[in-house]
Amino acid sequence: MPQATFKIWRGDSNGGGLQTYETDYSEGMVVLDVVHKIQAEQANDLAVRWNCKAGKCGSCSAEVNGIPQLMCMTRMNTLPVEDPITIEPMQAFPVQRDLVTDVSVNYEIKRRIKKFAPRPPDNADGTWTMFQADIERGQEFRKCIECFLCQDVCHVDRDHHYHLEGTFIGPRYFVHTAYLDMHPLDTEDRLAELKDRDGLGYCNITKCCTVVCPEHITITDNAIIPLKERVADRYYDPVRKVLRVIGIGK
Ligand code: SF4
Ligand code: SF4
Ligand code: FES
Repeated sequence: MPQATFKIWRGDSNGGGLQTYETDYSEGMVVLDVVHKIQAEQANDLAVRWNCKAGKCGSCSAEVNGIPQLMCMTRMNTLPVEDPITIEPMQAFPVQRDLVTDVSVNYEIKRRIKKFAPRPPDNADGTWTMFQADIERGQEFRKCIECFLCQDVCHVDRDHHYHLEGTFIGPRYFVHTAYLDMHPLDTEDRLAELKDRDGLGYCNITKCCTVVCPEHITITDNAIIPLKERVADRYYDPVRKVLRVIGIGK
């Protein structure tokens, strides 16, 4: 079997560093398989989070050779095994131990976003009438597995930690807000929060989040840019500004 060298970050919130492990691997293995092999044979106390091993639970997010990705979906035959392969925890979140990070800030962010608020039923039997096209617009956003790779890669989180300070909700939650905002039944207004609290203006539409999303959600084009357009229409359109000043508009 072929051999490869792995440099895996070991440590906790007090600090740590890369430790080297040599191991063999077989064709078809993914990085998570190799991590489990090293855990079984050389480092029984290596902490790694995973659940489904099928790219659906979003638990095994890490950085392989510096790129945020799911370890269970990263095949060994896609990596340059002639060089050591580094595996590190996500850099945008506080490390708990080894490859495991504390991603709980994401759940706190989600709690702050105004919930889905449907209009009253359209029909006497308690049902609503909707156009199929309106329903389909938000369907891709529902594919999110909350792996937080987009949060990890975004420079606003990664370099400035604004998500930890509560001033930037990050791409995952722009996707969530866009889903709610585009839902044909929703009546809630979230634009003021997007502009003033959630840090939509910090996003410079670099599309790094879109590139790493394992569900191929077009985060920037289909979620963030429409939200930016809605905020711009509301707050920066000169006509609407005048209407607001004279008290007849939002
Ligand atoms: S497009 Fe915006 S949200 Fe996505 S990574 Fe770039 S700055 Fe962050
Ligand atoms: S939008 Fe994509 S990258 Fe971000 S948390 Fe959801 S699945 Fe992961
Ligand atoms: S283990 Fe579930 S996504 Fe990787």
